[in-house]
Order: sequence, then structure tokens, then C-alpha cells
Amino acid sequence: MSFFLILMLLPHAIIASLAAQQPASRARGFALNGRAPNASSALLDVIQVTAPVLKNPKSRCEQTLMVHTFGWSYGMPFLGDYSPPNCDFNRVTFNFTVTSAGRQYDRLALMFFNDTEIWRTSTAEPTQGGIVWTYIKDMSHYLALFKNPQKIIFDLGNLVDDTYTGSFNTTLTATFFIADDTDPADVIIPVSSGKSSSNNPSAFVVPDQKAISTLLLPQNVKKAVFSISACGQGAEEFWWSNVLTSDTNVFGNQTTLYGYSPFRELQLYIDGGLAGVAWPFPIIFTGGVVPGFWRPVVGIDAFDLREDEIDISPFLPVLCDGKEHTFEIRVAGIADDGEGHGTLTETVGSNWIVTGKVFLWLDPSGEITTGSVPKLELPEPSLALLSSRKSSNGTVSSLDYSVKAMRSLLISSTVKTSSGTQVVTWRQNLTFSNDGTFTNGGNDQVNRQATSGIDLSSDQYSKAFSYPLSVFSTYEVLAGGNYTIKGEMTRGKNVRKIGDLAFPSELETFDFSHRPGQHASSFTGAASKDWQNGTATYLAVPAQKRSYGSGRTEQYYSLSGIGDAVAMVQSPDEEFSNHVGKELYHRHVVASNDSIILDEEDFDGRPVYSRHAAQQPAKQIFARLGIKAMLGRGPL
Ligand SMILES: *[C@@H]1O[C@H](CO)[C@@H](O)[C@H](O)[C@H]1NC(C)=O
Ligand SMILES: *[C@@H]1O[C@H](CO)[C@@H](O)[C@H](O)[C@H]1NC(C)=O
Ligand SMILES: *[C@@H]1O[C@H](CO)[C@@H](O)[C@H](O)[C@H]1NC(C)=O
Ligand SMILES: *[C@@H]1O[C@H](CO)[C@@H](O)[C@H](O)[C@H]1NC(C)=O
Ligand SMILES: *[C@@H]1O[C@H](CO)[C@@H](O)[C@H](O)[C@H]1NC(C)=O
Ligand SMILES: *[C@@H]1O[C@H](CO)[C@@H](O)[C@H](O)[C@H]1NC(C)=O
Ligand SMILES: *[C@@H]1O[C@H](CO)[C@@H](O)[C@H](O)[C@H]1NC(C)=O
Ligand SMILES: *[C@@H]1O[C@H](CO)[C@@H](O)[C@H](O)[C@H]1NC(C)=O
Ligand SMILES: *[C@@H]1O[C@H](CO)[C@@H](O)[C@H](O)[C@H]1NC(C)=O
Ligand SMILES: *[C@@H]1O[C@H](CO)[C@@H](O)[C@H](O)[C@H]1NC(C)=O
Repeated sequence: MSFFLILMLLPHAIIASLAAQQPASRARGFALNGRAPNASSALLDVIQVTAPVLKNPKSRCEQTLMVHTFGWSYGMPFLGDYSPPNCDFNRVTFNFTVTSAGRQYDRLALMFFNDTEIWRTSTAEPTQGGIVWTYIKDMSHYLALFKNPQKIIFDLGNLVDDTYTGSFNTTLTATFFIADDTDPADVIIPVSSGKSSSNNPSAFVVPDQKAISTLLLPQNVKKAVFSISACGQGAEEFWWSNVLTSDTNVFGNQTTLYGYSPFRELQLYIDGGLAGVAWPFPIIFTGGVVPGFWRPVVGIDAFDLREDEIDISPFLPVLCDGKEHTFEIRVAGIADDGEGHGTLTETVGSNWIVTGKVFLWLDPSGEITTGSVPKLELPEPSLALLSSRKSSNGTVSSLDYSVKAMRSLLISSTVKTSSGTQVVTWRQNLTFSNDGTFTNGGNDQVNRQATSGIDLSSDQYSKAFSYPLSVFSTYEVLAGGNYTIKGEMTRGKNVRKIGDLAFPSELETFDFSHRPGQHASSFTGAASKDWQNGTATYLAVPAQKRSYGSGRTEQYYSLSGIGDAVAMVQSPDEEFSNHVGKELYHRHVVASNDSIILDEEDFDGRPVYSRHAAQQPAKQIFARLGIKAMLGRGPL
């Protein structure tokens, strides 16, 4: 593919490294610049492709929770007060609408009710002419929190200066309404740093801090679920492209790479013992790898960083003993000896932003849950590591590495609640592989990663998932300091789920209004299939203060209802390409150079919206940091 690059003159010098100004936990790859200002043109619509969320036009009430501009906001979260509305509700949705113009990095944002994180999002990078996005999120799983007054702490750390001019104008409204009951938790207890009383956000920064809380649970719990919210930043933002620790200096000290391998495991420890794990979805923020991929269609989940769930009900006989218990979240990578042997670590690079929550469903008061001490089958994961180098004339020219991991665990106990005595189990079976290659002296990198698994709970819940990821990037330093970055990516997030734990299934939050007669209860589960692929390129001409860029990204999302529970419990290796169940919704989008050039959306095969737009003039310009910071290949 050839790119005809269009020149844009940058308004200011953008050559100075901004690394020193970036708060360590927030620094990102790099920022997109906008098109030239055009007062008569509307703001560019930026979207995250996902299924439409249920709303109810009748019997609803609304509350504005935040109207705030995040300018120089690092360490200065928005503070507000929430009081429950004067209307009946069993559902809550958020509408988060943001406008921004200028030049800015992507930023991470965490929202808390008191000490409990209730939502994690990230921002799109603005254009000079301005962008706007709206993300609608179902929040019904936090019903217990919405029924009580809360302090709102919305932390979106942004920095504004002469060069990085973009502020984020945000509006957050909540809509409360009645719809089919879901089964939200009665009590939600945070595992967080607990700083709301001093008006601070309550995330832990791992590994600088230990993500641990000591909790006293009620004694009448009949179901308990733990959720983990975690994402890598800094040296860990592109964790899936990191190398084995023994290879970090393979290209010499000048090109130190980030280590701990491309494998990460989020672990839950209860009272110091492993209680479940999550193998995270590889989020890519809107400045990641080559930012031209992500405008105006952002990466999968960039506006809604989902949480992983672990059913901890087998621990109830212990947790309901009226005593305090510790809950700790760790992020593990791999330490290796350079000879193919690896073990999981208790620490990783800096850093991960982490919180957790315990969701509890209660028996009538007065009941006390009892039962057996859980039986733990937690064999060490099997790890297979390979690494080989090619040298010419004593200098390493290429590195090939591969990490394979498999883990299965089973936790079971007998739990006695008001509804009787039951054997309660939590089972996970996970596989991971990442094949990485550096060639051309470390300038070209490919990673092909596959994460898949099945989580099964005796509480009629199963989740099979697969997260394929393939990213190629190359940079080339040209004469006079010019350099280019080119990238290609293909990625997916495929999930089949029966039942739910703490968060409602996509069926329960899906907007069925386009499908009269259809209903969440027509199905036993949901299958979502989401993939993106694209190419993007970037050329910097520092001496002339110019940069060039282009990108093309395609995305396909589909949501299907599953009628047959048997279809769910299949091998995680099975391709998700075949349709399982009845397709309820799909959307297919092609974006190119800041424009959406194809957008097809249909419900059950009936198109409701279809747009084939003419290509806008391509005028993407970009700001930059050091090349390696952009690509996540190591310290500057
Ligand atoms: C996007 O812009 C690049 C560089 O300006 C150009 O080569 C490419 O043809 C454009 N893509 C489309 C679909 O117009
Ligand atoms: C500004 O945007 C409008 C609407 O998109 C367009 O018609 C007009 O040509 C643009 N003007 C310039 C100077 O680019
Ligand atoms: C979301 O809120 C914005 C303003 O804050 C509003 O313009 C928009 O219509 C709302 N969208 C939906 C779907 O409610
Ligand atoms: C953000 O808000 C400020 C102050 O109200 C306004 O001047 C600016 O135009 C807004 N920016 C965008 C992109 O909407
Ligand atoms: C949240 O914290 C405030 C104090 O800032 C307190 O009054 C309120 O009761 C707390 N809400 C809950 C649900 O604990
Ligand atoms: C790399 O750095 C280490 C420690 O600073 C030093 O011992 C070693 O000689 C250096 N190697 C090269 C190739 O510069
Ligand atoms: C290796 O070094 C020799 C002698 O310096 C040189 O002639 C040759 O081109 C080099 N080969 C490579 C692949 O760099
Ligand atoms: C886990 O999944 C792998 C791959 O599908 C399979 O070979 C293995 O038997 C499973 N292990 C258990 C304990 O279910
Ligand atoms: C850098 O790239 C620009 C655009 O292609 C070109 O005009 C310029 O000559 C290059 N600079 C050098 C030093 O090669
Ligand atoms: C994405 O992949 C499809 C199928 O392989 C291909 O036809 C399409 O051209 C790709 N799109 C982009 C933007 O790379």
C-alpha cells in the first residue's frame, strides 16, 4: 500500500520532549493534532463501536452529575455530591459527553462514588477543529450505591501548556428508569486506597503500592463476586509487546526494552492465598502504537475499560465468620533465567492502576452462612519460553521470542445458606501465547498474541473468551532527523457468556426497541464478536516542524443471543468466527484519515442505518514524543 502524504504546517514547535511534564502514571504514547481550524465545520464525531444500550423513554428521571472542564487537572479531580433522585428506578445509565479542541494526549479517567471506583474511561485525542464523543453506559449493577448519597470523585488528570492545548469539556448525566429486573448486588465493598474523605481518588498504583484492603463482611452472604479494574501505564502500557527480562538489553544499553515478558496475570489473594485470576484484555489507548489507527473510531473498550470478575462464593464459609479478611490484587509477569525457564513474578514494571470490589448478595438478616473450608486446586501455570538471537559481526540484528502459558484452577466448597446446602465451585481454564520478533536492529517489531479461556461458576455462569492481537510496527530514522512509523494491527474481543456474576450480560442492557417481540429472556446467553484491523503511518520532519500521517481502520461488531446453553461450553480454542445463536445487532465501520467512509448498522439483518460517505480531505497531523515512548519499546 502506498501513502501519498499531505503536508501540514504545525502551528508551534513540538519537538521538545514532553516526557518530563507527564505525570508518570499518565504519560502516554503521543498526541494527535487536529486539522486546521475551520470555524464553520462541526465538531468531529468520535465513536466507540458497541451495542446500543437500553433506555426507557417513559417513567424516567435525569440528573446531571458533572459539568466540568478538565484543563490543568492533574491531582485535581472533579468533586460533587450525588443524592438519589425522587423517582423509582431499578436501572441507571450514564451519558458521558466530551468535547475537546487543540492538541492533547489521551488521558485515563477514573470515577469514584466515595472510595468505590464505578467507571474507568479514557479520552480521545482532539483535533484543532474540535471533537465530540458520547458514551452511554449501563450502570444498573451499582444500584446499591445509587440508592445512597455519595461523594463523586472524577479523576481525569490532564496537563495543558502552550503546546498541549486541549482541555476536556465534560458533561455526565445519569438517567434513572424502570425496566426488567436484573440481579444487582445488595452490598458493594471497595478494595481501594480509601481516600475519598480527603477528596482524593482511591486507586492503587502497583507495584509502588500494595493493592490490599482488610474487610469485614456481613455474615449472611449467599453469593460473592470480586471484580478487578486494572490497566497498565508507562512501562506497562504496551505490556503485550514487552520482552523477556533476560532480553531487555539484547540490542545494547542504548535500546533497553521493557521486560517481565508480554504475559500478565491479575491475581486475587484472599487472606494471602490465591483465589482466582484474570488474564487481561489488551487495551490500546487512542495514542497507542500509531495514533492514526484510532480516530474517529477508538480502540475496543477505550471509552469503557471493563472489569474482570471472579466468583468468590466458595470462600463464603470463611468470609462469613464475622472476622476481618484481606483482599489483595497483584499483577504478575514472568521472570526468566535466559535459558527458557520462567516463573511468575510478584511485581512488574511501573505501573498498573488498580482497584477491586466485592459484590455481595445477602440472605435475610439473622442468617449465618456456613460450610466447608474451600478445597483449592491451584497448580502452578505451565510456562514455555523461547528466545533466540541472530547476530552479524558481533551485533544482535534480530530477536525472536515466544511465551506460552496455560493455567487451570478449581476452587470448591460446600456452602450452607437459607436455601440449603450446595457444592459451590469456581473453575478457570486459560491459555495464552505471544510470539514476538524484533528485526532490523530492533526497529521492526511484530507481536502475535492469543489469550483465551473459560470461566465457569456453579452459579449457572460461564464465560468463554478469546482476545487475538497482532501488531506490527516499524520505525526508521531518516537523514536529518526525519523519521517514520508505520503500523498494522488486527485485534479482537470475542466473548460468549451465559448468566452473569456482578455485571449484567449484554442481553440485559441491550436496546431491544428495534426488535419488537424480542426480549432478553428469549435467550440464555449472549455472544459478542468484535474485531478491528487497520494500517497507519506517520512521518516526522523535525527540522521543518512538520509531520504527516494517515490511517485506515475497519471494525466489525456483532451481538447474538444464544438459545442453547450447550453451545457455550466449548473449547476456548474454538474459533469465534462461526455464528453462534441469533444475531441481534451488528455494525461495520470503515474509517480513513479522520472520516468514517462506511458505516452499516443493522438489527437482525434489517439495516436501520447505512452511510457511505465521501472521503474528506486527508489532513491528519500529529505531535510526538520519543519514538520508543510512542511504541512502548523502552525508556527514552
Ligand atoms: C489517507 O491519507 C493518505 C495520506 O494523505 C493517502 O495516501 C490515502 O490515500 C488516504 N486514504 C484515503 C482512503 O483516501
Ligand atoms: C469548513 O468546513 C465546511 C463544512 O465542512 C466546508 O464546507 C468548508 O469548505 C471548510 N472550509 C475550509 C476553509 O476548509
Ligand atoms: C447525551 O448528552 C448530551 C449532552 O450532554 C446530549 O446532547 C445527547 O443528546 C445525550 N445523548 C443521549 C443518547 O442521551
Ligand atoms: C469548552 O468550553 C469552553 C468554555 O465554555 C469553550 O470556550 C470551548 O469552546 C469549549 N470547547 C469545545 C471544544 O467545545
Ligand atoms: C460517602 O461519604 C460521605 C462523606 O463524604 C458520607 O456522608 C456518605 O454516607 C458516604 N456514602 C456511603 C454510601 O457510604
Ligand atoms: C551496559 O551497561 C552495563 C551496566 O551499566 C555495563 O556493565 C555494560 O558494559 C554495558 N554494555 C555495553 C555494551 O555498553
Ligand atoms: C561485517 O564486518 C565486515 C568487516 O568490517 C564488513 O565488511 C561486513 O560488511 C559486515 N557485515 C555486515 C552484515 O554488517
Ligand atoms: C483446558 O483447556 C485446554 C485447551 O483447550 C485443554 O487441553 C485442557 O484439557 C483444559 N484443562 C482442563 C483442566 O479443563
Ligand atoms: C525530511 O522529509 C521531508 C519531507 O519528505 C523532506 O522534504 C526533507 O528533505 C527531509 N529532510 C531530510 C534532511 O532528508
Ligand atoms: C481488514 O481485514 C479485512 C479482511 O482481511 C480486509 O479485507 C480489509 O482490507 C482490512 N482493512 C484494513 C483497514 O486493513
